[in-house]
Order: sequence, then C-alpha cells, then structure tokens
Amino acid sequence: MYLLKKGTAPNQAHVGIPKELYEEEHGRHGFVGPASHLYRRHPPTAWVRIEGPLRPRAFSCATLTTPDQRSADASPVEILHSLDVRVFLSRRAGSMPYFVRNADGDEVYFVHEGRGTFETDYGVLPYEPGDYVVIPKGTTYRIVVESGPSLFLIAESPEPVELPQRGLLGHHALFDRGVLTAPELKPDAGGDGEKGREWEVRIKRDGQYTRVVYPFCPLDVVGWKGDLWVAKLNVRDFRPVTSPGYHLPPSVHATFQAGGLLVSTFAPRPLETDPQALRVPFYHRNMDYDEVLFYHRGNFFSRAGIQPGALTLHPQGIHHGPQPQAVEASKTKTHTDEVAVMLESRRPLTVLPALEPVELKDYATSWK
Ligand SMILES: [Fe+2]
Repeated sequence: MYLLKKGTAPNQAHVGIPKELYEEEHGRHGFVGPASHLYRRHPPTAWVRIEGPLRPRAFSCATLTTPDQRSADASPVEILHSLDVRVFLSRRAGSMPYFVRNADGDEVYFVHEGRGTFETDYGVLPYEPGDYVVIPKGTTYRIVVESGPSLFLIAESPEPVELPQRGLLGHHALFDRGVLTAPELKPDAGGDGEKGREWEVRIKRDGQYTRVVYPFCPLDVVGWKGDLWVAKLNVRDFRPVTSPGYHLPPSVHATFQAGGLLVSTFAPRPLETDPQALRVPFYHRNMDYDEVLFYHRGNFFSRAGIQPGALTLHPQGIHHGPQPQAVEASKTKTHTDEVAVMLESRRPLTVLPALEPVELKDYATSWK
C-alpha cells in the first residue's frame, strides 16, 4: 500500500494524540513493518467480556510449586510452548545431582531469584538475579545452588540464539559484546574422580531423556577455543535507548533472537520529556507475535497490581496496551524503574496445564 490519511490523525505517530482519543498501532512484522495509526474514541481493551480461546492471561509463576523445588533429581516444568519456543519454569532448591545436555535446542535461562553456578563443558559461571545465561544446544552442564531457592524462566529454541542486528544504532548499542561473560575453566576439571563413583548425563531429545553414565566426571575440558560458548549477560549491563520526544516501540529492547523467538529486556529508563509525546506503550494487537512478559522487579509502569514473578500472555489478534490508571500515573513520572523480560513467539503459544493452577483469573478484564 502507500501512505494515506483519512479523517483526524496527527502527522507524527505517538505525538500530539488528540484529546479524548486513543491511538492504536496496527502493523505487521512486529513494529518494523507497514503500519497505520488508528485514533479511536474508546480504548480498544475496554471490553466487558471475552468468549473463546483468545484472551490475555496472567500467571503468578512465583507461587507455582515445581517438581524441582521438591526434589533435586527433578527437571524444570514446561509451562508454554509453540513451534518457535518452549518455556520452562524451574524453582530449584538443591544442586543438580546429574548433568544435563539439551539436544532439542539452545536455552536462555533468566535468573529471577537465587545464586549459584552453572558448571558446564566451557567452565564454571556464577549466576545471580537479573542474569541471562545462554547455553548452546548440546552443552553438558549442571546447576549448583548456593543460596536459593532459585527461580529460572527458561526459553528453549530449536534455532540458534543470536544477537539481533543493531542497524543504525551501531554494534555497541544496548550492550557491547564485550560485556558478555564466559565461564572459567577449573584447573582440576574432571580430575577429581573418586574411585567407584558414577556420573550421570541426561540427554534430552524430543523431550525424552536418555541417561548416559560415566566412571569419571564428564566436565573434563582443560582448554577450548571458538565462537560457540555459554554466555552470560546481566540486565544491569543492558543500556536501553530512549528519546525525549518519541515513544520508541518495544522492538528497540531486543536482546536475543532465535528464529521466530525474540527476547527483549525492559530496563529502567527515563520517560519522554516532550509534553506532546506519548509516555506509555501505545495500544496494539501484535499481529505477528504472541507476547509473553515476565516481571522481574520494580514498579511496572504500564499496569497496576502486577507482582514480581508474574507472567502475562497476550496472543496475536486481541488488543493490549496500558491500563487507564497507568496513563494517568505516567503524567507525573520521570522514569521507569521496571525490569521485565519479553518473549515473543511468531507462532501461537499454548498454555500447558502445569501453569493453570496459578492463573490470575480476572486479568482479561483488568482494563475496564
Ligand atoms: Fe505488546
């Protein structure tokens, strides 16, 4: 199509929205494809009722009891899946007595709570809240809990996890590759074998585990070189871009990409200072991605009443945007102090039964 305008519409999107009207962005390819801005008389989220499967949902992950919380021998529980990503929750209280190797995909761990280490083929990497730990498909590793319990949100992608193109922002925007941390090899790796002891590696393929048992510690690497390794990024090293005069779309916070999966970080940042500029996310119906937001810490500026450890799901096709209270509150705020992680899946996500017990039932009508 070509650029066209009908009726009342400002020439600059997200700026000078006419009084009493609500701006919606209707676009393709996330926030980078063709788009129109619709100026409506009512917030498109002010429905009274939804019937059918397509509805915004919210879950309190921090209150879900997981098998690995009760038993160190257990595995993370799968909570959501699509053809682009499988999402797992782990609330591990004790160190893994086994090693694991995921032959289904790369994994991105986000650490919500707890401290400890990842012991991997590439060495030992400490973790703390706010860390992303990216584990390439096929890496052997285990988690040692030091102070816990830990809470990890884990995204598994069949496609390799990569850093998105930074385009005009330059290579060093959002974070410099130099801030990615690699594990350190232990000088005695694999050499501390006790006679008669066995080490178990659980290899996951097609969701099924195969147990391989060694008479020595399988983490016996004493050197490596290459450009495939376990990498860590903490959200405090994520440097968001903002503009004083223009509300940037969420796509500017893209942190990792893996085929049809996008992982983005909402980090503390100043709000727009131009009084004409929109200061909260615009309404949209994310036509090309199902959108999951996991709230890590802070005050969540686009909605009230959300707790750290909560997860929301906004499927393709149905609107979302700020609650009316958040629009009001934004008028006096100068910055956001939220940290949240967004997972976007090109293909539709299914909520698995394991997550349903912690659903926040009135979420779908919380914009009223
Ligand atoms: Fe969104």
